[in-house]
Amino acid sequence: MPPQHIGIIMDGNGRWARKRNQVRTQGHLEGLKAAKRLVKAASDMGVSYLTLYAFSTENWKRTQEEVGFIMGLVKRYLIEEMDFYRQNGIRIRHTGDFAGLPVDIGREIRRAMEDTRDFRGLQVILALNYGGRDEIRRAVERLVRAGVSVTEDAIGQHLDNPDIPDPDLIIRTAGELRTSNFLLWEAAYSEYYISDILWPDWTEADLTAAVADFQKRERRYGGVPGGNEP
Ligand code: FPP
Repeated sequence: MPPQHIGIIMDGNGRWARKRNQVRTQGHLEGLKAAKRLVKAASDMGVSYLTLYAFSTENWKRTQEEVGFIMGLVKRYLIEEMDFYRQNGIRIRHTGDFAGLPVDIGREIRRAMEDTRDFRGLQVILALNYGGRDEIRRAVERLVRAGVSVTEDAIGQHLDNPDIPDPDLIIRTAGELRTSNFLLWEAAYSEYYISDILWPDWTEADLTAAVADFQKRERRYGGVPGGNEP
């Protein structure tokens, strides 16, 4: 059985470009191609949910040119891939602060979510203007506004997509050993897989290797090996 939900921190686009004496935006362009490959691979593998960390709440600190380029790629991805989504039954969703997105990007995400809402295959969740702390803050804000007690369950139910199960596996490419504010609440018991391979170089075989590694792990959720028998 493949993991039900995989999250990917797609890192290393800039380093990929620098290694080739190319501009950073070229790395993002290749990064988008990798995202398309890996969405297809996850879909073929029978994964139910794939969350892609495309733009964090901190990424606005990059140059206007780079931010504009990434947003343009996202927009193109949402528009140009519609046939692919239809053929593969792929449903598009979003996590992150929707209100803080540029109006045209927000419009395309809403449209893509609407157009794919009845598709029953892989659900691709685009983390865009996403921060784990920000998501928790927004959930608590909703709770307080609704006058609901702040319990763990209630916070979980007020996150961006409460129906989506927590990620089983979180992959980080390009070798850094940190979470970078990705799915902080949801990743409490996720298994991490860190790869040195830069995101634009990722292939289906790398996803297969990550999943095979995941399948060897024993998940205890804070318990002891083999359960609680004496
Ligand atoms: C991290 O590499 C990558 C990003 C912040 C942008 C990711 C965006 C894409 C791959 C394109 C859009 C994708 C979809 C699915 C619509 P970095 O620039 O931080 O690399 P570096 O650490 O090597 O500089």
